[in-house]
Amino acid sequence: MKRILVTENITGTAMEALQRTFRVDFEPDLWRFPEELAQAVRAADGLIVRNQTRVTPELIQRAPELQVIGRAGAGLDNIDVEAASAAGIVVVYAPEQNSISVAELTLAVMLALARKLPAADRDTKAGGWNRRDFTGVELYGKILGIVGLGRIGYRTALRAKAFGMDVIAHDAYVNPDGITVSEPRIPLMDLSELLRRSDVVVCHLPLTDATRHLFNYENFCMMQPTAFFVNNSRGAVVDETGLIRALEEKKIAGAALDVRQKEPPVQDALCRRDNVILTPHIGAFTREGQQRVVTSVCRDVAAVLEGHAAKNYANFSRFSRGTRFQQQL
Ligand code: MLT
Repeated sequence: MKRILVTENITGTAMEALQRTFRVDFEPDLWRFPEELAQAVRAADGLIVRNQTRVTPELIQRAPELQVIGRAGAGLDNIDVEAASAAGIVVVYAPEQNSISVAELTLAVMLALARKLPAADRDTKAGGWNRRDFTGVELYGKILGIVGLGRIGYRTALRAKAFGMDVIAHDAYVNPDGITVSEPRIPLMDLSELLRRSDVVVCHLPLTDATRHLFNYENFCMMQPTAFFVNNSRGAVVDETGLIRALEEKKIAGAALDVRQKEPPVQDALCRRDNVILTPHIGAFTREGQQRVVTSVCRDVAAVLEGHAAKNYANFSRFSRGTRFQQQL
């Protein structure tokens, strides 16, 4: 019987179905212990992870049986896809299954920042009734600048338009003639122009060498002092020291971060600010989003182990230890 190692907390009916066909070793805390992880992966034909397990070239080398790596989510920054490809291992993931959930969280925190909801909630529960202190602003008529107009950025744009916002975007890779840009008529522009014009800047970028610390003190200083910043993508696209300084100097009005440079983060100046909303990387964590993600990844892991083609793959659809470096992206 083929063996699948699950190194993070990934559950659901699709996972239960997998257990009926394969031996599933469910070790939700294994990602914390790299040496134990390397021992356990030796016998695995399949590996399923979320975003905490570091799937490095060294780990892949220590997994002689491995045919498929399943990433229960969209971001691939914790998987060395090149090393997996070199070993003929298929990487499957869930590129869009949680996009609606993340876009909805972005709308939720935009509204919460605009209406000072966390501070108003805390104050009211403590016995206050300070209506004037919690005068907010409307999203209606404001400019939303989306950095990264991919699957999540696009869905955020559609929802923001329903609130009467004007949407602009910066994306170094999107096709300007593509339907996601042309149909909703989203003007594309340089990052600096977007930062200057936006009332709210939201970031939906993957973490790459080009996006690491893209949002630094200098870039925050280009924003309006009344503007909000939202990051629900990857923590390291923000230089948190620069963000703290920009908030302290009132270069921007507030921020919401679902993701952090280091997760879990240390208690820092961000935790003490009323104009900052912090959540524990829950963008994708809805019942519906998780069901879609887990179903897709379990289905594709099973397909590869049974010799069939995966549907959502990052390198190639079938395992073949011989075909090194044959990426079919
Ligand atoms: C994703 O990449 O899909 C989300 O950030 C959720 C996750 O990492 O688990």
